[in-house]
Amino acid sequence: MSTNKATTVKLLDMKREKRNIVMLTAYDYPTARVAEEGGVDMILVGDSLGMVVLGYDSTLPVTVDDMIHHTKAVTRGAKETMIVTDLPFLSYHISTPEAVRNAGRLIQEGFADAVKLEGGREVIEQVRAIVRAGIPVVGHLGLQPQMVNQLGGYKVQGKDFAGAQRILEDAKLLEEAGCFALVLECVPTKLAQLISESLSIPTIGIGAGDGCDGQVLVIHDMLGITDRYLPKFAKKYAELNVAMTDSVRAYAGEVRDGVFPGPEHGFKMSDEVLQKVKEENGLA
Ligand code: KIV
Repeated sequence: MSTNKATTVKLLDMKREKRNIVMLTAYDYPTARVAEEGGVDMILVGDSLGMVVLGYDSTLPVTVDDMIHHTKAVTRGAKETMIVTDLPFLSYHISTPEAVRNAGRLIQEGFADAVKLEGGREVIEQVRAIVRAGIPVVGHLGLQPQMVNQLGGYKVQGKDFAGAQRILEDAKLLEEAGCFALVLECVPTKLAQLISESLSIPTIGIGAGDGCDGQVLVIHDMLGITDRYLPKFAKKYAELNVAMTDSVRAYAGEVRDGVFPGPEHGFKMSDEVLQKVKEENGLA
């Protein structure tokens, strides 16, 4: 293992030293290479995979096998970066032993370093059991996309007293249960800051403002790879979708016009060999 690879202990140090943690999603070998070369601290193989890569409307259809398949590619592409993989919908809800088994598969078959799961008090038993098995766990509170049908949409969470109180309590429970980091998604900036100050483990925000100990974005959003709806909290650092579509259009045009391939893209053979093939086949 590289000495630069983040560990759970290094991340705690980063929080104590007030160094912001950078996390980014990746789903395959090339995005993992880009994330690692770009110098992120952690890669998340998020179940957002379902929406940005597999074309589903939500994360719900994503399976453990999907996550393993993509995590394997990511771990091959980013050997020096901590890789966290999402436990997908229903893979940790049915029973605690099943949650441990699925978390273990992401580690043993996908080669992830840690797993992430959504929820608070209702998944505490599963978190404890996974941690007991020696698997580092990241929690996820606020907007939980796997609960989209129950929440009635992708909405900011914790704006009223009861909601804010529940998220703060759940954050403390997850820390006590052994999570080494906590993703806060779509919660008010001031609540995220309060939670971050109340915990000794780092918080990693997405749509949770600048008071978190780190930030995470979906790589397809920040690179502008898709033309899907961009959430308010995401920032686009490039418009790769435009560059990619223009490039495909240019390629299609050149093939149709006979411009590509040029002589420089082909391979040579000797005239003697060609002549012999022609003669052999009655084509001379
Ligand atoms: O699946 C994902 O990409 C996530 C991030 C939005 C935190 O869970």
